[in-house]
Amino acid sequence: MKLKLKIWRQKNSNDKGKIVSYDIENISPDMSFLEMMDVLNEQLTSKGIDPVAFDHDCREGICGSCSMFINGEAHGPDRLVTTCQLHMRKFKDGDTIHIEPFRANSFPVIKDLVVDRSSFDRVQHAGGFISINTSGNTQDANAIPIEKNSADKAFDAATCIGCGACVATCKNSSAMLFVSAKVSQFSLLPQGKVEANDRVLNMVKQMDEEGFGNCTNTGACEVECPKGISLENIARMNRDFLKAKISS
Ligand code: SF4
Ligand code: FES
Repeated sequence: MKLKLKIWRQKNSNDKGKIVSYDIENISPDMSFLEMMDVLNEQLTSKGIDPVAFDHDCREGICGSCSMFINGEAHGPDRLVTTCQLHMRKFKDGDTIHIEPFRANSFPVIKDLVVDRSSFDRVQHAGGFISINTSGNTQDANAIPIEKNSADKAFDAATCIGCGACVATCKNSSAMLFVSAKVSQFSLLPQGKVEANDRVLNMVKQMDEEGFGNCTNTGACEVECPKGISLENIARMNRDFLKAKISS
């Protein structure tokens, strides 16, 4: 395949940034999108041009770092996949592909396609955990019976990989899908119910402090989420938040 790539290049967070065009050929439809980017970077490096900076780690859809906006969609045109799992067969020979970083005020660009998502880490630190006071006679977690429906929903929520596609896709840059998945993962389980009120209040407070926008029920986040995190989590978090606020 022969392609034209129009890629956002930005030297650092203070640089204005611009779209730069690159022509690339001999791309196999079986390559992943990141392998195609590797080929481009090899070519740029051999010409003495600074390679395009992009985040990646697992290349298996697990770590959530390979975040790119491809032809106006977070993680590109395929559904329920991350950029590393997107294959070039989703594009046609001769296509022009626009590649930009995930954009949101709370995700400042560090360089090219790499953004700073530490705001997500701070939300997680505000309450996305369970405190276990080990006294020497801690109960084995496997010995606590959990109703199947709740276990399944908690497990589904736990599949959120913190990629930020929901924020980048939302017209309000809302992080509600991410935060509600992290809240639900614990609040549905008996182990997480003990700190449930503090957790939801603290995580929502941190989310607001980080400058994420509000949810206006557009649902774009659910469509673009590579892990199929359901809007049901947002409704659950809103209920949990209201209950916690009343009882605080
Ligand atoms: S909810 Fe989905 S889109 Fe948002 S951070 Fe989690 S996995 Fe990514
Ligand atoms: S590189 Fe880890 S999810 Fe894509």
